[in-house]
Amino acid sequence: MMINKDGRVKTGIFGLDELLGGGYCPNTVNIVLGSAGVGKTIFALQFLLKGLENDEKGIFVSFDMDERRIIDLALSMGWDEVVDYIDEGKLLVGSNFHVEDIVYLNSDLLDFILSNASNDKVRIVVDSFTPLIASLSFEMRKDVNWFFSKLREAGTSVVTLEEPLDGNLNNPSITVPVFLGDSVIHLENIGYGEAFNRTLRIIKHRGSWHAEGIFPYRILRGLGIVVEGSAYVEERKTKVDLEDVLREVDKKEIDPVVLRRLKKLTEDEIPISKEELIKIIKRVIECS
Ligand SMILES: Nc1ncnc2c1ncn2[C@@H]1O[C@H](COP(=O)(O)OP(=O)(O)OP(=O)(O)O)[C@@H](O)[C@H]1O
Ligand SMILES: [Mg+2]
Repeated sequence: MMINKDGRVKTGIFGLDELLGGGYCPNTVNIVLGSAGVGKTIFALQFLLKGLENDEKGIFVSFDMDERRIIDLALSMGWDEVVDYIDEGKLLVGSNFHVEDIVYLNSDLLDFILSNASNDKVRIVVDSFTPLIASLSFEMRKDVNWFFSKLREAGTSVVTLEEPLDGNLNNPSITVPVFLGDSVIHLENIGYGEAFNRTLRIIKHRGSWHAEGIFPYRILRGLGIVVEGSAYVEERKTKVDLEDVLREVDKKEIDPVVLRRLKKLTEDEIPISKEELIKIIKRVIECS
């Protein structure tokens, strides 16, 4: 796995890693949620390509797209190398699964993934998970949880979910994987006009900081998904000297636990403005 010194798996989506605090955490299941045409499959391919460029293996599982259609999409994006990766056996496309045949998740599907994920340098994509969930029984939550734990053992995964066109997300087929996923990214096409047509929001990222708010993105041939968010992160890299702030505060004794927490807080740069950070520290001391 292309794990940087920050211990993260680079997503390959331009501008996204910095919004995730460096990228995905290794051996996690990462949900990409969105309605038709928002770019879920392009996202998934881009994630796989990032790994393939660094000698990682890729596994692409699909229930509704056969290998030909996946290749066609890649070619239309200008990613001709996908064909070579498939020929060389570095990218495995599993599209011979039919949801009707999958009653339990511990079926051929998992065998396919696990038997091909022989080392830790594997990126896995399930695009999309929705038809599979729809066919599962009432014990879904347990099954999905178990399936995700197997995926985590096998590598780092992107699992896409189809958002219903009516926007109703209160369906177990959405909520169960969203709760059980390690991160959730929501892609939307709101159609308000050029700049904010397509937006990305990070709903959660377990065990990590992530940027909040919505970020415009574009889908561009050659590059794929490009998220415009770097200015946001750049402006908010703050490091304060705790001693300086403490001197400004008029409080003699600070609870040692709170002090330890504040030391942790100020150890590294954090993506927040300096004024905000100082305000928070002062407030915490006041309350303690
Ligand atoms: N070659 C291309 N150049 C630029 N944009 C493209 C290109 N191919 C596709 N797109 C854009 O990407 C969108 C489709 O992306 P993608 O297939 O990843 O969406 P999806 O979310 O997987 O959709 P679905 O739910 O139908 O599977 C298209 O609607 C189009 O706007
Ligand atoms: Mg798709």
